[in-house]
Amino acid sequence: MNTSAVAQATPSAHAFTQEARDAIYHAIFSRRDVRGQFLPTPVPDEVLSRILTAAHHAPSVGFMQPWNFLVVRSPDTKRRVHAAFAKAHAEAAGMFEGDKRATYQKLKLEGIVESPVGICITCDRERTGPVVVGRTHMKTMDLYSSVCAVQNLWLAARAEGLGVGWVSIFHQADLQEALGIPKGITPIAYLCVGYVSHFHAKPELETAGWLPRLPMEDLVYFDQWGQQGDQQPLIAHLQRDQAAAQRGREAIA
Ligand SMILES: Cc1cc2nc3c(=O)[nH]c(=O)nc-3n(C[C@H](O)[C@H](O)[C@H](O)COP(=O)(O)O)c2cc1C
Repeated sequence: MNTSAVAQATPSAHAFTQEARDAIYHAIFSRRDVRGQFLPTPVPDEVLSRILTAAHHAPSVGFMQPWNFLVVRSPDTKRRVHAAFAKAHAEAAGMFEGDKRATYQKLKLEGIVESPVGICITCDRERTGPVVVGRTHMKTMDLYSSVCAVQNLWLAARAEGLGVGWVSIFHQADLQEALGIPKGITPIAYLCVGYVSHFHAKPELETAGWLPRLPMEDLVYFDQWGQQGDQQPLIAHLQRDQAAAQRGREAIA
């Protein structure tokens, strides 16, 4: 038997080293949505270039690469974006009842003006014409592709020590107007980017008592929607891994 061929066929033959894997999981588990800890320190172009390039290497339906990256540095533009946020944020507060409204009003949900850089990631739904490999039936796949770019940028930024905060509390038309985005282009994410004083150990909405992190065993089904697998060995692994992720973030805090 050709053992080297077997080794090559084993998935772990292509795995990263333990150190590299640890680094990837560290970026994933310690990434946070950042709103309030931005430092004014400028983000060097070479760092910005690396995280934008990471975003551009995201998967995309039919390799459509529907994204653009609008880099916002002008204080005037940031103020216009912030005004669009403030209008929607005031409306949003009215959508929650009782205690939830009071809690919502106390949450800081953006760092638009304080962060040194804003990046709006968009989706051009017509970029490669009307028929796209993989988007023939589920038409939202192009939007999801731009979201993949957001996540790549977010994780790369965490590895670079940069905080990222996603702001979505806008009327879409107001955000488009603030940034001069034409009607045919969909804004996917307005991201506040910058160095930070610290990263929180857990989501701020969790700390604020808004919502807890859900247990994995309630989210994983087997073979049919809703079918849980208490006896499945995978469930025990998931419970152990979720507990380890929780302990890891406490160790980071
Ligand atoms: C699509 C999307 C939109 C979001 N919009 C906002 C937002 O407008 N303001 C905000 O403070 N956080 C926003 N967030 C961040 C979430 O609140 C955050 O990811 C979640 O609470 C978990 O926290 P973590 O990212 O620190 O793990 C958004 C996240 C996503 C994925």
